[in-house]
Amino acid sequence: ENESTVSITVVGASGDLAKKKIFPALFALYYEGCLPEHFTICGYARSKMTDAELRNMVSRTLTCRIDKRENCDEKMEQFLKRCFYHSGQYDSEENFADLDKKLKQHEGGRVSNRLFYLSIPPNIFIDAVKCASLSASSGNGWTRVIVEKPFGRDSESSAALTKSLKQYLAEEQIFRIDHYLGKELVENLSVLRFSNLIFEPLWSRQYIRNVQFIFSEDFGTEGRGGYFDNYGIIRDIMQNHLLQILALFAMETPVSLDAEDIRNEKVKVLRSMRPLQLEDVVVGQYKSHTRGGVTYPAYTDDKTVPKGSLTPTFAAAALFIDNARWDGVPFLMKAGKALHTKSAEIRVQFRHVPGNLYNRNFGTDLDRATNELVIRVQPDEAIYLKINNKVPGLGMRLDRSNLNLLYAARYSKEIPDAYERLLLDAVEGERRLFIRSDELDAAWSLFTPLLKELEEKKIIPEYYPYGSRGPVGAHYLAARYNVRWGDISLEQ
Ligand code: BG6
Repeated sequence: ENESTVSITVVGASGDLAKKKIFPALFALYYEGCLPEHFTICGYARSKMTDAELRNMVSRTLTCRIDKRENCDEKMEQFLKRCFYHSGQYDSEENFADLDKKLKQHEGGRVSNRLFYLSIPPNIFIDAVKCASLSASSGNGWTRVIVEKPFGRDSESSAALTKSLKQYLAEEQIFRIDHYLGKELVENLSVLRFSNLIFEPLWSRQYIRNVQFIFSEDFGTEGRGGYFDNYGIIRDIMQNHLLQILALFAMETPVSLDAEDIRNEKVKVLRSMRPLQLEDVVVGQYKSHTRGGVTYPAYTDDKTVPKGSLTPTFAAAALFIDNARWDGVPFLMKAGKALHTKSAEIRVQFRHVPGNLYNRNFGTDLDRATNELVIRVQPDEAIYLKINNKVPGLGMRLDRSNLNLLYAARYSKEIPDAYERLLLDAVEGERRLFIRSDELDAAWSLFTPLLKELEEKKIIPEYYPYGSRGPVGAHYLAARYNVRWGDISLEQ
């Protein structure tokens, strides 16, 4: 074991993702003792930089968790000594061959395992994969490549991308990241369901009335408009992050926890779903809004966004799974930027209690008196179950209360960032949380017809003020399926 090494090359080392997520995650893995004894980290990008300059850039991104402050500076220094920089073009086999030489020096004749993290724009993906695979693959160990979305922008372009990737890599070398799968509460979804007797028996159309997947951000596309405008919120969040959570939520019990068994079940769910219909979708775009003397920009005020762009920054959709377990149950998704809160959550609304003896005692809104399970992915990670409860006292009045598992109160540990788990899995060859190509195809099949229709018909988004709750159309859509969006602000 000691005789093997891992070299992690971050291609696109000076980019935003590398600085914000990848280097900090690698450092966290290092101080947690999760990286092998012999490892090298190499930043690769076009600009000229010395090792010292890279280390300086990386050092500004590193932090230690509150419970790990001891020896923090020392650990950082040791980590930075293992980081190097290599300047090169993304489409130059020669430059990657030089990288190969440099990595070999660090590997010192040990078995070399190589992980490439492609943190670069999609138009140079294939060139970089080609050069890395032809000129800088490991000769005696494994070579793996992590790729980030966008994986194309519809079924055709995604299939073309997969085909090109497979010219240079085998499927088991490709690690397609969806970082939502690395989030603690998303991982916990299966534990909650499959290892608690009280949930799995209720997990079907018999008891569940609807399920909601909600993503909201309280800031706009600030500065990322160039990327975003070509994709829009449906491709940016729904087709991947929310759909992945839905698949995990709704899948049948896998044969085992093996990556292939889990992904087989996820694909089955995706293939049982109806492609989205235009009438089941509401799109929105944020407009400028002035509050408290501050003016917040419209989406189209972003300099990198073309004037008159119709790209949605908000979408709500109703989806259906045509199988025995979920027949007729609406799965609602809502995703938006520049809304009033930042959160991501899963809400499971249960059916009414048939012939409820206490119907008269609610006083308030009866429709709200059903049980609801909420999994708050972020912020303030929590799982809570809304139950009806007697208000203490001599009378008989009921209200809804929460059985509450707040992570911050229960676990003193800081929760690792999603990228830490995913990078560790990639180093260990664990594929459970990465997207297989047939999953990707199935996901695109659901959204491609809708995306084409939206673009061909030039559907005008509903405009909503920056910082608001989004277009009212989302409420009408839900109401059509007899659903009310769960709402954090109505909770406390
Ligand atoms: C990315 C999207 O995949 O996820 C961004 O491209 C979005 O638009 C981000 O802001 C949200 O991730 P997180 O982990 O901050 O919720």
